Amino acid sequence: MNKRIAVLVSGTGSLLEAMIKDGLPIALVLADRDCRGLEIAKQAGIKTSLVSRQTYGFGITNYSFYREEFTEKIVEVLLKNDIHLVAMAGFMTILAPVIFNYYDGRVLNSHPALLPAFKGDKAVSDALNFGVKVTGCTIHIATEKLDEGRILAQEPVFVQAGDTVESLWERIKQVERPLYSRVIREFAESIS
Ligand code: GRF
Repeated sequence: MNKRIAVLVSGTGSLLEAMIKDGLPIALVLADRDCRGLEIAKQAGIKTSLVSRQTYGFGITNYSFYREEFTEKIVEVLLKNDIHLVAMAGFMTILAPVIFNYYDGRVLNSHPALLPAFKGDKAVSDALNFGVKVTGCTIHIATEKLDEGRILAQEPVFVQAGDTVESLWERIKQVERPLYSRVIREFAESIS
């Protein structure tokens, strides 16, 4: 595969870890904060970039955050690294629309619920609190609208009696890890 893939992370990076184990060719791992995901990438010898949110106002001017400037910086790093495809894997910043001027239809996201149900960053606890018996994960093309965009794949996960957010989320991730890797590979091979 000759596509250059960037993975965007903010946290534990277990999805990224699975992609690396699967042999997905990852050209760059970019994070918005210091996190385990960055360490995993470094250990695997993958190029990393930290575009810290704090540089863009967070905690500086009354907690205002310059989303546009932050996103422009990310786009600059992606372009500089000749990235074709961007995969968000637990990336916790909503990017400004400017990224879609360059990567429209080429930003993927994985969400820990069966979209369009339970959008947002509390998807697992929202599903659990709602009392659903089945939830799961969704791989989709990211758009300007949060957790919308064409769905590429979904897999269900059954909620079990006594589930906590942690136990349910871990079972979702067990399904999500191989699914996201496979979808990224197929998607990368399908684009020009
Ligand atoms: C995944 O469940 C993903 O759907 C969500 O964040 C989680 C990332 O997990 N957006 P990890 O940091 O890769 O372990």
